[in-house]
Amino acid sequence: MFKYFFIAQSLLLLNSASSTHACLGGGGSSSYIGGGGGSEGGGVENSLGVNTYQTSCPDAEDIIFSWVETAVLNEPRMAASLLRLHFHDCFVNGCDASVLLDDAPGLVGEKTAGPNANSLRGFDVIDSIKADLEAACPGVVSCADVLAVAARDGVVVLGGPTWDVETGRKDGRTVSKSAANNNIPGPNSDVPTLISKFQNTGLSARDMVALSGGHTIGNARCATFASRLSNSGGSGGNTDGSVDRDFLQSLQDLCAADARGNNSATLASLDYATPTMFDNQYYVNLLSGQGLLGSDQALVGGTDGVGELVEAYAADVGAFFEDFKASMLKMGRLGAVGGGGGEVRRNCRSIN
Ligand code: HEM
Repeated sequence: MFKYFFIAQSLLLLNSASSTHACLGGGGSSSYIGGGGGSEGGGVENSLGVNTYQTSCPDAEDIIFSWVETAVLNEPRMAASLLRLHFHDCFVNGCDASVLLDDAPGLVGEKTAGPNANSLRGFDVIDSIKADLEAACPGVVSCADVLAVAARDGVVVLGGPTWDVETGRKDGRTVSKSAANNNIPGPNSDVPTLISKFQNTGLSARDMVALSGGHTIGNARCATFASRLSNSGGSGGNTDGSVDRDFLQSLQDLCAADARGNNSATLASLDYATPTMFDNQYYVNLLSGQGLLGSDQALVGGTDGVGELVEAYAADVGAFFEDFKASMLKMGRLGAVGGGGGEVRRNCRSIN
């Protein structure tokens, strides 16, 4: 835990803006928890617990942390990329590492789905972690668990909260590119669409708002918010009075030279103010009309308590951290590995 503290502190020093941070405590309880609540479409759920590798692979979490720490200190954005990998995994038939599978004869993976192509990253870090884990304890630690632990560790290294990740997932033997296209919300989604995409997996509107706080770190390509920059506006676009015009102008300038195609390389920070700090600045930005994606800015005017939650998280980083942790645990329980049975992959990119 001290290790986490010092890394978080050193990164905090790298960030110019100051903000209040909840303590990095957390650990402790090792309850045994059954699979998550009300997940539709996830199939049979595994039983998850804390410290499930304590005897079978005692160094597993240290090995994962060590790789994530190195990668994030080298490139802070990697924490964001790893967090997003876990999200995109869990939203497609549960957290079963299906997102990591490469295309193979007879298998069309999820990497080429719209929300993932030219966008997801961090696969090499996962490969390195997995290779080390296989050397230490072959066939024990699932790739799906690596994703869940790495997501938490990246958040911790950037100064966010820590929590006990539940483990015990198995890796899936199936993929679904169509589910990746359908289940993962798009950047121009309105609030009712965002809520329903989360509810389809068993997560609530509150989970949606808390987990959207993941956009306090990382980047997005111009293509994902280009529609907000045109005069016609879009969901939460520049016809929406809640959007800061100077902010939109700065994005227009940034993206002017961009091809605005899906392969566009120009990036903007999802949290322009403290992009490498896991804090509640994302919500503060939304209140001042400086959310990057249409789906981010739309939350401010959201009904069903959504707008109120944005205000609550902007005002109280501790409240955000508590809800974020709880929602990450819920998302991590989304049922994995149904009919085809699960396995512990030797290589995260291919079925055994
Ligand atoms: C609420 C609906 C969501 C939408 C519409 C959405 C959409 C997006 C989009 C369009 C990007 C930029 C992708 C690119 O340009 O290549 C992005 C990035 C990101 N998203 Fe989300 N997202 C959502 C929810 C989440 C959740 C639940 C998490 C995690 C808990 C998350 C974490 C991230 C992170 C960390 C990045 C930056 C990744 C990087 O820099 O590599 N997002 N998201």
